[in-house]
Amino acid sequence: MKEFKILAVLVVLVGVLYYGIEPYAHSVMHPEVAPANFNFDDLKNVDTSIKGNGANGKVLVEANCIACHAIEKVGHLQLMPNADAAAAYGVTPPDLSHAGRIYDKNFLANFIFDPVSALHLEHKYPVGGAKTFPMPAYNWMSQQDIMDIVVYLQSIAPKVLDDKVGHAITFKAACGRCHSMKYGTLEATTPADALKTYMGVTPPDLSQHIKSRGEHYLHSFINNPQVLIKGTAMPRVGLTEKAQEEVIAYMEEIGDSKKEERETVGLWVMGYMVVFALLAYLWKRQIWKKVH
Ligand code: HEC
Ligand code: HEC
Repeated sequence: MKEFKILAVLVVLVGVLYYGIEPYAHSVMHPEVAPANFNFDDLKNVDTSIKGNGANGKVLVEANCIACHAIEKVGHLQLMPNADAAAAYGVTPPDLSHAGRIYDKNFLANFIFDPVSALHLEHKYPVGGAKTFPMPAYNWMSQQDIMDIVVYLQSIAPKVLDDKVGHAITFKAACGRCHSMKYGTLEATTPADALKTYMGVTPPDLSQHIKSRGEHYLHSFINNPQVLIKGTAMPRVGLTEKAQEEVIAYMEEIGDSKKEERETVGLWVMGYMVVFALLAYLWKRQIWKKVH
């Protein structure tokens, strides 16, 4: 009887804890966030069903983009050292070799049309405000021209392997102008003091963010930072789901390289517990046999 009373008290205590704190934790401490949206269908300035012409895209890219951006894959090298480029533009413009592979088509087209709205940075660069975004909007181009550029960038993007080397390339192309990954010996291409001036805050080194934030948080945050941190200086990056998975895989390979090993050891430990519990039970039965 006594045991039942103890059990009842326990059930009540656990019940209060569960119903009182669980919903609080989920509504206040970890509120639900909208799931990641990889269609970027809030951006509607460019009709991406228009069929692009890569040859014309090449001409347009050479006339409009390579003054700032390197495209090493097709031989356009960076014109200035990183520090000078950062001094000129605030941040070093990324090499566009992988742009057609890592960015979603709809995002990329709308980004070229109007970078500020695609990045969700209207609060930082309001129309008519004192600061202007370093990359000009190409909203004077026809939708056809923009799709030509997108198709050209897609046609030159090299394939990368789905391994640590490939994941590092994707991370570097997408995040490497702002974030270092010291444990992976990757240094942000923009010098730290320039970044502080450009962004208002220094983007953190991401070596350990896979542990401190976790994969699920990163999945939503990278897709749309404003949803999780209102007013954050981090822009929306516009990656495809595949490229984003590669970035997170890289963060895991660098920041939590023992994860797989830990999980297999966990299974062995659970197996050991089961065997041990069975032995303990048989032993107890053996000892108490004489008493009963
Ligand atoms: C005056 C310099 C300049 C020109 C010209 C320019 N860009 Fe940029 N671009 C930048 C800078 C600077 C950034 C990085 C901005 C940032 O991270 O805040 C950038 C970023 C980008 C990105 C990364 C977007 C993302 O989501 O991270 C792409 C893609 C891009 N530019 C494509 C182009 C294309 C295509 C053209 C030509 C049609 C072009 N740029 C012309 C300066 C320029
Ligand atoms: C144009 C610069 C820029 C680019 C590109 C960029 N970030 Fe950031 N990121 C920032 C800044 C600035 C912050 C700090 C934001 C703040 O404190 O509000 C930040 C913060 C973060 C954080 C910390 C969020 C938190 O919860 O504290 C993570 C994680 C992150 N970025 C991941 C990425 C990944 C992954 C990529 C590439 C896919 C990327 N970022 C691309 C500028 C950038």
